Amino acid sequence: MKNQIRQLIQHAIDTLKAQQVLPAELNPEIQVENTKDKSHGDFASNIALMLAKPAGKKPRDLAQMLVDALPANAAIAKVELAGPGFMNFFQDEQYLSRTLDAALNDVHLGINLADEPQRVVVDLSSPNLAKEMHVGHLRSTIIGDAVAHVLEFLGHTVIRQNHVGDWGTQFGMLLAYMEEQGNAGDAELADLEVFYRAAKGRFDESPAFADRARELVVALQAGDAQCLELWNRFNEISLSHCQEVYERLNVSLSRDDVRGESAYNAELAGIVTALQAKGLLTESDGAQCVFLDEFKNAEGNPLPVIVQKAGGGYLYATTDLAAMQYRSQQLEADRVLYFVDQRQALHFQQVFKVAKLAGFVSENMSLEHMGFGTMNGADGKPFKTRSGGTVKLIDLLVEAEERAYALVKGKNAELDDAELRQIARAVGIGAVKYADLSKHRTSDYSFNFEQMLSFEGNTAPYLMYAYTRVASIFRKLQRDPAKLDGQINLQAAQEQELGAKLAQFADVLRNVGEKGVPHLLCAYLYDLAGLFSSFYEHCPIASAETPELQASRLRLAALTGRTLQQGLALLGIETLERM
Ligand code: ARG
Repeated sequence: MKNQIRQLIQHAIDTLKAQQVLPAELNPEIQVENTKDKSHGDFASNIALMLAKPAGKKPRDLAQMLVDALPANAAIAKVELAGPGFMNFFQDEQYLSRTLDAALNDVHLGINLADEPQRVVVDLSSPNLAKEMHVGHLRSTIIGDAVAHVLEFLGHTVIRQNHVGDWGTQFGMLLAYMEEQGNAGDAELADLEVFYRAAKGRFDESPAFADRARELVVALQAGDAQCLELWNRFNEISLSHCQEVYERLNVSLSRDDVRGESAYNAELAGIVTALQAKGLLTESDGAQCVFLDEFKNAEGNPLPVIVQKAGGGYLYATTDLAAMQYRSQQLEADRVLYFVDQRQALHFQQVFKVAKLAGFVSENMSLEHMGFGTMNGADGKPFKTRSGGTVKLIDLLVEAEERAYALVKGKNAELDDAELRQIARAVGIGAVKYADLSKHRTSDYSFNFEQMLSFEGNTAPYLMYAYTRVASIFRKLQRDPAKLDGQINLQAAQEQELGAKLAQFADVLRNVGEKGVPHLLCAYLYDLAGLFSSFYEHCPIASAETPELQASRLRLAALTGRTLQQGLALLGIETLERM
């Protein structure tokens, strides 16, 4: 709806431009907001206040001219001026009801696919192999996954890229340790984390070992057959650990989405040559660097992007440049979204700029760093085990399921154990994911089991439970929500508010897809569940006065249920019929 209003306003602006009331070069971003007080309409825009000055008009006069130039639209009952020059839009209730009826009758909930579908590369998860995944990779994995689902639902083609770190110095340590141990078997490698930690210990304590490790990285990158064979074995083990975590998390990532740093090895020399040819390289202490004017440190000295070390080795940035080229030329991406820790913001600003300057990517390909904050413990400090080690992701998920099991069992003593386990899994994993997704992406947040597993507040258990309440209405009345006749008729205030909220689903999804912010979808679902509660309290269904009224309310309930279910599914969270 907001989008529709934006288009109407755009049309009015264009008309005024054609009449030379507004200067032709004006291209404002049109803001449309939901109003708090419904007696002032459903949506409001401040566009006339924004344009008054450049147009040389009084805001209220301009607002009136815009209103006069608005094309008629069935969704809008009337538009009023308010205050210094706001435009208030009143939704047409009949039109709204018909839209909701159409949504209910449509498998895609009446949401139109994008007019211009894009090819979107989503760079997500991307752990460093050899080490096991830890909680730091949780955010990239689940936020990226949620945004990928939303973009697909809106009709875009999403290409997931798991840019795993499979080529770095950690492999030198593993190879050197392997050599020292006299080729360990699968048993020693089963817990790769332990093996890695032992290797790292040796690396830190023995300079001779460290030298050997560095030698072996060079040998590996130069294609030494024996090193490559061992490297493959490490990767296999490590990737299968990752895959276990993805499956447990109900995340749509498979081995086919893995395209690690090593995949770009052959391209790296060419990246450096190309930068050289463009005159972008400067040598500094033997290293090949790109200096860009806009990146300086606190002292005002230029910050380099190093693409080749003095010894000839390539770096993280070089690989990212090669990956961007691949994504532009081979994958033909319109957009590339990087779900990576906020602390890498400077790295991405720099490599994006270099890639554009060097022509590695097409001019109109959009490169977007979707940075996120740190996940802290309940004490507000970076999340650690009691002994101060990093928490393994898998241990965290196991604990979430255990805690959920105890909770669910307390509530439903009568259910058999297999069903309890199944519910506990959905609730535990859902809670962990939702706690993360519901926070603003860029903020840090505290991981807190009690809070995320609570059945009250903006949590997964609350929303999953709201869904089961809708399901139970239909069970009790023995009605099939997929076979309802009649039509929606919004009369009571609670019905109108619920209906208006339901109609906002498409706008919310578009916003999530554009900005990569799933917390907006969480907030929406939470509001929706709240409005459904007050509707259910004030508008009886079983004892509705007339069959028409009952039919209308059942349809509203069914649409709410499906919206909750679809919304949670896009977030990667399962719904249950009872819990
Ligand atoms: N492996 C990196 C890390 O754990 C993240 C990679 C993100 N993606 C990228 N294209 N740089 O820090």
